[in-house]
Amino acid sequence: MKYLRDISVAFIRSVKLENPALLDSTSATGIRGIRYIKEAGVKEAVLLDVNKKAAGNSKKNLKANKIKAEVLNADLQDFAIRHEGKFDIIDLDPFGSPAPYIYDLLKLSKDGTMLMITATDTAVLCGAHTSACVKQYGAMPLHNHLCKEVGLRILINYIIRKSAEYNFGVKVMVSISDMHYMRVFLKLEKGAKKAYDSVMQSGFGGYCPSCSSFAYAYGIVPMLHERCVECGGKMQCFGPLFLGRLNEKPLLRRMLAQLDDKNSKKIVKLLIDEYETPFFYFMPKITRILGTSSVSYDLVSESLKEKGHQCTRTLFDPDGIKTDADARTVTAAVKAAKARSQ
Ligand SMILES: C[S@@+](CC[C@H](N)C(=O)[O-])C[C@H]1O[C@@H](n2cnc3c(N)ncnc32)[C@H](O)[C@@H]1O
Ligand SMILES: [Zn+2]
Repeated sequence: MKYLRDISVAFIRSVKLENPALLDSTSATGIRGIRYIKEAGVKEAVLLDVNKKAAGNSKKNLKANKIKAEVLNADLQDFAIRHEGKFDIIDLDPFGSPAPYIYDLLKLSKDGTMLMITATDTAVLCGAHTSACVKQYGAMPLHNHLCKEVGLRILINYIIRKSAEYNFGVKVMVSISDMHYMRVFLKLEKGAKKAYDSVMQSGFGGYCPSCSSFAYAYGIVPMLHERCVECGGKMQCFGPLFLGRLNEKPLLRRMLAQLDDKNSKKIVKLLIDEYETPFFYFMPKITRILGTSSVSYDLVSESLKEKGHQCTRTLFDPDGIKTDADARTVTAAVKAAKARSQ
């Protein structure tokens, strides 16, 4: 997870808060808090962990690094009730789902607080256990190639809904779904209108397994067609989920300039280049529908760009295509690419 910590350090350096008060709410060895102090200029930090041994380790590691921070051995939920001050940055990285802790983070937040939240219950968010996702996040997941993006957007929507109850809007700054984790970097903005606007940036989606097209509709009342408008197939519906922009490109560019590590640079570069639109097409699915063998991304991309479309790769899947073209056009581009390669 080193490269993820590198990205978090780069995030804090790039948002440039003045003398931020930071809470590492699930600090374990204290490595994150320590790196934020040493590498991101954080002066005031609280390292919290419910595990006594972890808190002891944090103390030792702070001493070994010759830096000072407050170490607390407490449960985040108890701490949030008792603590009176607010933090500028809060890191949450529990085992599994962050959902049970979102209210606690909100109690400890103010206008402008940055939240850095990790989820490792990706099987749930990605729809391996539908009922668990419905129970934990109040959302219907999708269990196919789109599951990582859908899961990430379900997680953000969940945080938005909880934040709205506390009159916070949520500005989504960076969103990553890679391997077995998801990590979101968010800014809370106080105000009833901000909270309402954030909720309205969410909605529902539909996916057609017959032709691989997708659709989405904003708002809390879904206005989706039950049948695919392109082929008449039965749509699989999912959500509620966030449908807005997942990443702030200028911020990502500033972060990239702070990074040395190959892995973290690769992820941030991919996010910078990625065309921002909900969902993507999956080349193996399209070639399966067409009954042909695999096709190169570059040829499909060339064909779409010749027709004036946007087209990029996506971090969600190496075989994915993010584009403004519809399923019919992408399928035609795959056919054209196939013909070109023969
Ligand atoms: C995945 S580890 C954190 C790893 C750390 N962020 C890192 O980068 O190495 C999760 C930590 O959260 C702590 N934890 C779990 N539930 C907690 C709670 N309710 N309050 C505070 N800490 C908690 C665990 O004891 C554990 O040390
Ligand atoms: Zn269809």
